[in-house]
Amino acid sequence: MIDFHTHVLPNIDDGSHSIVTSINMLENASKQGVCQLVCTPHFWPLKATIPEFLQRRALAEGLLKSAIEGRNHPERLPFLKMGAECGWVKNISNYPDLEALCIEDTAFLLLELPMGDWTDEVFEELYRLNTRRGIYPVIAHPNRYAKSIKACDALQSFAELDCLFQVDVNSVLRLTERTFNFRLLTGFVPCVLGSDMHDGSHKAQRMGKALQTIEKQLGAETVRQLSACSAAALQNGGMNRLRSLWSRPGQIPQIP
Ligand SMILES: [Fe+2]
Repeated sequence: MIDFHTHVLPNIDDGSHSIVTSINMLENASKQGVCQLVCTPHFWPLKATIPEFLQRRALAEGLLKSAIEGRNHPERLPFLKMGAECGWVKNISNYPDLEALCIEDTAFLLLELPMGDWTDEVFEELYRLNTRRGIYPVIAHPNRYAKSIKACDALQSFAELDCLFQVDVNSVLRLTERTFNFRLLTGFVPCVLGSDMHDGSHKAQRMGKALQTIEKQLGAETVRQLSACSAAALQNGGMNRLRSLWSRPGQIPQIP
């Protein structure tokens, strides 16, 4: 499986604060069956410029990759791809150089949405990212916006966009959020998984358990489709390709 959301790069955000922790996180991910992992340090548009961010990310990437290569059997750790977790900003579709934050060699951008009540502006901006910038937003941890999504019946709107949901593995395991995540996983928007791990603690170690839960509740075919969509996204497959891999019969489900 591929982990689309991690804070494994050392000393760049509120994630790992040392190489030792980063390696520990990678070892834990590997034990959970993660073969590729996207490094998505926070980028907050009002706090830094994209060139500044990329410079810091390249430094952290170099340090971590050197440490990996200095180990025995570096191939046993997940393969790393660079990305970012981009914070929301007003008029984000006009923000310069956003393409540089997309996951390496792809048009997929892990994006946090604003908290609170959503207006049409949120969907208009996502649509402009699609049409004006050629960017496919990957909506980070949609469980955090469950209230907003339910309030404006947003699943229909997301299904009309070229975007993905990054389902949070810890959220899948929380009984109070499980139903919401299962609605997403049985819905029309293709999904990928992310741990959002910030350190070497429990978050790094729950991908396997989340996959077991999804398989038990929704069947092995859902896990297979998650895996296929994840791989296709990292190969920069277009949305038509991902939709064909994420085949869903019937109507868009209502959230209870
Ligand atoms: Fe995150």
